[in-house]
Amino acid sequence: MNKVFSLMISMLLVVSCSDRNRRVDSAKPHGSRSSEQLIRAEVARLLSELTLEEKISLLHANSKFSVAGVERLGIAEMRMSDGPHGVREEISRDSWESANWTTDFATYLPPLTATAASWDPEVARLHGGVLGAEARHREKDIILGPGVNLARLPTYGRNFEYLGEDPFLAAALVSPIVQAIQDNDVAACVKHYALNTQELERWTVDAKPDERTLREVYLPAFEAAVKEGGALSIMGGYNRVDGINANQNKMLVNDILKGEWGFDGVLLTDWHVDINTFDAAMNGLDVEMGTRVPTYGEYYFADALLEEVKQGNIAESVVDEKVRRILGLQLRIGMMDPARKTGERNTEKHHQIARKIIEQGIVLLQNKNQVLPLEKPRLKRVLVLGPNANLAHGRGGGSSQVKSSYEVTPLQGLRNALGEDVEIDYMRATGDTELKAIASDYISTRHGGSGTPAWQIHFFHDLEHSQYKSHNQWPSSHYRVEGEEKQHINFAATIVPLETGEHLLQLKAAGKVDFLVDGQSVIRFESESDVQRAIPLQLEAGKAYKFLLRYDGSQQFTLGWEAPGLKVASKEEYLAAAKTADAVIYFAGLNHDYDREGQDRSDMTLPGNQDEVIANLLGVNAKTIVFIVAGSAVEMPWAEAAPAIVWGWYGGMEAGNAYARMLLGELNPSGKMPITLPVKYEHTAPIALNDYNEVESRYKEGVFIGYRWFEKQYIQPIFPFGHGLSYTSFEISGLHVRQNVSPEKDVVSVTVMVKNTGDYRGAEVVQLYLGDAEASVERPAKELKGFKKIWLDPGEEKPVILNLSKRDLAFWDIKTKGWLVEPGVFNVFVGASVQDIRQQASFSYQP
Ligand code: BGC
Repeated sequence: MNKVFSLMISMLLVVSCSDRNRRVDSAKPHGSRSSEQLIRAEVARLLSELTLEEKISLLHANSKFSVAGVERLGIAEMRMSDGPHGVREEISRDSWESANWTTDFATYLPPLTATAASWDPEVARLHGGVLGAEARHREKDIILGPGVNLARLPTYGRNFEYLGEDPFLAAALVSPIVQAIQDNDVAACVKHYALNTQELERWTVDAKPDERTLREVYLPAFEAAVKEGGALSIMGGYNRVDGINANQNKMLVNDILKGEWGFDGVLLTDWHVDINTFDAAMNGLDVEMGTRVPTYGEYYFADALLEEVKQGNIAESVVDEKVRRILGLQLRIGMMDPARKTGERNTEKHHQIARKIIEQGIVLLQNKNQVLPLEKPRLKRVLVLGPNANLAHGRGGGSSQVKSSYEVTPLQGLRNALGEDVEIDYMRATGDTELKAIASDYISTRHGGSGTPAWQIHFFHDLEHSQYKSHNQWPSSHYRVEGEEKQHINFAATIVPLETGEHLLQLKAAGKVDFLVDGQSVIRFESESDVQRAIPLQLEAGKAYKFLLRYDGSQQFTLGWEAPGLKVASKEEYLAAAKTADAVIYFAGLNHDYDREGQDRSDMTLPGNQDEVIANLLGVNAKTIVFIVAGSAVEMPWAEAAPAIVWGWYGGMEAGNAYARMLLGELNPSGKMPITLPVKYEHTAPIALNDYNEVESRYKEGVFIGYRWFEKQYIQPIFPFGHGLSYTSFEISGLHVRQNVSPEKDVVSVTVMVKNTGDYRGAEVVQLYLGDAEASVERPAKELKGFKKIWLDPGEEKPVILNLSKRDLAFWDIKTKGWLVEPGVFNVFVGASVQDIRQQASFSYQP
């Protein structure tokens, strides 16, 4: 270590030891001046010592999740990990295979939609704190999250990873997450910038919103993450924006992110994006990750970039600017500081935080005749059914999967809470003909792009399957042939059973099929229409079996099974059990075969025969509770008849315990929907406007995302945005709107009184929606512009003050290219959801 360098390090150390908080503050770009000065000086010194080759080595991946260091200068390898709900298991350096560590368990937090449903920035802060501390403990420098793409399309596969449909809510929650991550000496990486709102052809789809829509709807959460959260890194989206890949889009990156917002951190690509060296380098991309080429030298930002600089096509200063940002990030998170925080992981404290988050996020959607909470002393026998009753979710969904040391399923949670005295009758109700696809938990073959369980598909030219054509990967064991050229298929996966015993393997197909297990043909037939066959297989837990289906035909096939432990009850059986039960709880919903990266759902219905079973149960037991576990909207044709409906999201590793506490009244639900629940898929804007396809999204609804669209079209959803009940009741009164005289920041203050008028301690989320009554452009009737979650004892009353800034009143003016507040009348709506408005007033704004 040379003298100047060690002097710098000791100066940094003095700062960090004597004023630890200040040094941590400097993790935010707007941190204290003195440490920022030191960082700048140290960056300049390192830059002056780096060779061009070394600089370029800092700009691209050197393994699946890291970027090289420069040992001679004390620059360490920079390590990253997914993702938003917990630190992902360790992945091999050069492949997507698990590294098979036994020491990489992490806290599985409720996915971000659940955190968003808390409507509480402090809950979001808890989420970020666990992520940061655990990432640090796993010796990571950047955690790839949070994600803030908005839920525009209810069937978008990644909705569960994000913060809902509203730009204001997402913006308010992202900053505390980012700050809490970075307080642990780890950089947050906010993703996916920007407009990554569908998985269908996510690598190429072109997002083309108009300027107002981009600014008012899809950018504010990123803007808040940068300006208020101080995010040190951002991940570019896969998609194009106005024809140009998001990572090399000048308007998005150099003009807005780094220009207007002053982002001084690092923009890194998503894993394998469609860019080119010159445009990406010139338009602001800093680091390239995940490109699918045989060697790291073949990355766009590796040998090719070096060549461009040597040829004089790209100035070295362009490279220096990227290196400056990377070194700045590294110094801000203390990568060169021996006193850097070391974090903690998988602790009881973190597990309890996971529980606390989901406890605040569970939404009670409907509770007729106070069916809930269930009174434990009155329960003797509870019937528990539904595909999610005993399903764990942490290991699914794509890159956001988490390997936790345990996960409490709903059934286990009920067993823990009800103990020995209450009989729990658990069964899986199904129709006779339904095939249960082979769940992803059994599949050990991985998707090349995301590392998630996947079937491998090889296409051939010929019936003999000897002339190879191409390869693809597929998430589920149901496959429909699309395109005449794909008729000769090998569909294969390695399957590892979870329990030893008889697995009733079923195959339904139209075409010519030969199904082989470890090379032995077990089912073979040929048919022009759908035929279903089954065969019992004795399989051992933990052993790997090679499943291969050879298919020739132009239609479809489904491989399903009944694995041990999945007892299936007939309609007569489950209805007989339901009739005499003290309560019936049906855990409905989706799982990560549906809510998942890489694929959108094809519709909004509940998979399988859930709707039918729920309707049957509602017909025989008035204490039937439908409990939905899902990360995005589903249709509920039985909603009217259901006495109680609860939305539990994916709940993290403590989900079952939290659900049981809520059902039994040990905790009072306080979550609110961060998404609209439409009656029908066709009611949603992208579908109604025919704006969902493989090629481009025009965002035809403009600024009318989510509830704004439903209000504009007068379409009634089943449950509106912001809705959520409590076991107690609240009164909101005394609305008072005051305009401030010297309004530098907040121009209007809105005050209401909130009173708990029921018998339980509980929380209301007071929501403020604003409408610009006299705008010269078309604006939504109501837009969320303020909210506050407040806990009150029975009878207690407190004021809630919500302040509106100029920006809250403004729209993006395309003429002046800036935020504009027009003088005139604004309507203020305060209530408990976008539709449950309890107080209303107007004010006239004169700037
Ligand atoms: C996902 C990212 C993720 C990355 C690394 C990509 O496929 O889109 O969200 O962070 O993989 O796993």
